[in-house]
Amino acid sequence: MPANIVLGAQWGDEGKAKVVDYLTSAADVVVRYQGGANAGHTVVTGDTEFIFHAIPSGIMHEGKICVVGNGVVVDPAVMLDEIAELEAKGFSVANRFFLSQVAHVVMPYHKVLEKAGEESETSVAIGTTGRGIGPAYRDKVERSHGVRVMDLLDPARLRDKLRASISAKNEILTKVFGQEPLEAGPIIDAYIGYGQRLAPYVADTSALLNQALDQGKTVLCEGAQGTLLDIDHGTYPYVTSSNTTAGGACTGAGIGPTRIAEVVGVTKAYTTRVGNGPFPTELLGEEGERLRALGREFGATTGRPRRCGWFDAAILRVSTRINGLTSIALTRLDILDQCEHLKLGIGYRCGDQVLEEFPADPQVLEQCEPIYEEMAGWCAPTTHVRRFDDLPPQAQAYVKRIAELSRAPVSLISVGPERDATIPLA
Ligand code: IMP
Repeated sequence: MPANIVLGAQWGDEGKAKVVDYLTSAADVVVRYQGGANAGHTVVTGDTEFIFHAIPSGIMHEGKICVVGNGVVVDPAVMLDEIAELEAKGFSVANRFFLSQVAHVVMPYHKVLEKAGEESETSVAIGTTGRGIGPAYRDKVERSHGVRVMDLLDPARLRDKLRASISAKNEILTKVFGQEPLEAGPIIDAYIGYGQRLAPYVADTSALLNQALDQGKTVLCEGAQGTLLDIDHGTYPYVTSSNTTAGGACTGAGIGPTRIAEVVGVTKAYTTRVGNGPFPTELLGEEGERLRALGREFGATTGRPRRCGWFDAAILRVSTRINGLTSIALTRLDILDQCEHLKLGIGYRCGDQVLEEFPADPQVLEQCEPIYEEMAGWCAPTTHVRRFDDLPPQAQAYVKRIAELSRAPVSLISVGPERDATIPLA
């Protein structure tokens, strides 16, 4: 059986967890393949709301195997807290949660260095989530001081590695940023302890996933963040530090591209962004405030207010192209229930040029004005709707236009946070 990918088609927070949760019933294994505790995946079942930062949200489905792949940067404290919280709420992780032995580990100095960098006048302020993600990936690529999960399991090796890396990081902290050095002893002790507690979950997850596929099982790859936050294809430098696009699923889980069947791009029926960087269809002032209030658009990880704006089809066209989207999962349609008029960004005007595609050059993007198409709103509740034909005609027209402009069919519409507030189309 194949592997399928569910990923964010915009700037993150598209409602991937709800879609993954919905699709998990048809999967055997769920794997996270990139990012780290910068992600905040909210799942609502009955009265329980759970925000996942470390473990795939599929863990709430009994009997499903959940994997954190090699492409993720792991914050052991966050992961262990999440395991404890899940167990306390009655969701057992024993023998069904596995962590890649070669995934890299987020250390306290990554967070301290990230904060110092964001506050420094000589660096670009990205508006990161402050979870140490960028510096952890930097160490992975730089190769001198990267710490991997397997190192946590070997106290002697870990002690040597951490003594060297903390000493190197302290040079930067004290000499570049004028800050106090970190004390190595307590960090080493804490991480040896984390290693002991995580040991039962550590595995060769690439082997595990490929074996599952060979046995005819279905693997669902759960993306974090979104396409325009991709380190290569996003609005650089205002991006995260991993490949959030479909290719990242293969490298970050250790499965080949020939295994992938479906790539579902999750997109809101409007657009949001947290952190800094360009956002052509952003609504400033009252209209943006209204959309933020209607959608309760505040970050699941940082609580920051999200910037809100109209749907931008040029973004979706990039997403369809780069990810090879086989379909779109359109979320939060119900948030637009009260809008009398809707606008759809269909392209940009840049000086006397009309651009159909999202420009890669940030300087061009800065000069772009969105070109809008207006559509009538439906001014009626949709949360109770379960069939496409039962949606108000204006809502049906809005969805169809989104599919047309995005160059991918819509396979699912979400009209509320609960698992069943879903309209399947495929
Ligand atoms: P970092 O991933 O913490 O390095 O942050 C880099 C950029 O990605 C910032 O603009 C963050 O706001 C954004 N970002 C990171 N994770 C998420 C997410 O899960 N949802 C939305 N934006 C995110």
